[in-house]
Amino acid sequence: MLRTECEVALWEGEAAVPRDVLLREATQADGLYCLLTERVDAELLNAAPRLKVVSNMAVGYDNIDVPACTARGIPVGNTPSVLTETTADLTWAIMMAAARRVVEGVDWVRHGRWGTWGPLLLAGVDVHGATLGIIGYGRIGQAMARRARGFDMRVLCSHTSRAEAESIGECVDLDTLLAQSDFISIHTALNKDTYHLINTERLTKMKRTAVLVNAARGPIVDPDALYDALQSGTIFAAALDVTEPEPLPQDHPLLTLPNCIVVPHIGSASIATRIKMALMAAQNLLAGLHGERLPYCVNPQVYRDQWSANPPIEESDNRVTE
Ligand code: DGY
Repeated sequence: MLRTECEVALWEGEAAVPRDVLLREATQADGLYCLLTERVDAELLNAAPRLKVVSNMAVGYDNIDVPACTARGIPVGNTPSVLTETTADLTWAIMMAAARRVVEGVDWVRHGRWGTWGPLLLAGVDVHGATLGIIGYGRIGQAMARRARGFDMRVLCSHTSRAEAESIGECVDLDTLLAQSDFISIHTALNKDTYHLINTERLTKMKRTAVLVNAARGPIVDPDALYDALQSGTIFAAALDVTEPEPLPQDHPLLTLPNCIVVPHIGSASIATRIKMALMAAQNLLAGLHGERLPYCVNPQVYRDQWSANPPIEESDNRVTE
């Protein structure tokens, strides 16, 4: 799709594009199609004087200095909505796995430890009928709430910034959510207010039987505090699709804990969804190169001056991940 209209400089390595290569290639670029592994900041923008558009193949865009792009009149695109249900599916899967100790069970069998049936062998906590606390009640948070309905769960939510469109959840303050939830699932965006939102103090407010799930952005949870809480039994378990840092080094203490499941940021990784995201990001890029409005734009204020005759544009909501 891009090659039919542009000359494409494509990074084909398995690892993220090295910073020096990105800075060098950016000097000639009119558009940037990037992943959440690329930091788009003032240094990169200064190195790219021709840049007309930044298109992120992700719904989250904490890797991009959006105000710096806006100041330069550069629209930034993302991929909202198409990954909502896929990400909620994965989040639900790891939540269930942590609650019912599925990974430990698989290891148990693989390592020849399956002796006899035991009354408390790998006993976990029930999901059905429990209370689910959702931090960040955006699209993915609401998709979690819909799943919870099928499991007869009570749903609490905090950090909501949209109208409580679906009345599945009870909106409460964070302390209430932490104290009353059996499962706490994070779906808020990473920003200065949510960095290490889950720290020692907040972990201590959770039930000792609580399961913490993070499928938003790693730095929302302080990894040292989480390690201590899991090791000391302050909470029951954690399931992480995202970590700080990413990738999590193989010798990271969290990986030594049987009650911590970590998967490598695969929330939206179904083939169908990744194709949709890739196409949306390509549409954004091409629109930007043609000087047209991006179909999915996170900083529509760049168009205010250009197209002031247009009807008002709905501001994108920076507080929810999706
Ligand atoms: C996103 O899109 O922000 C996810 O983290 C990756 O799908």
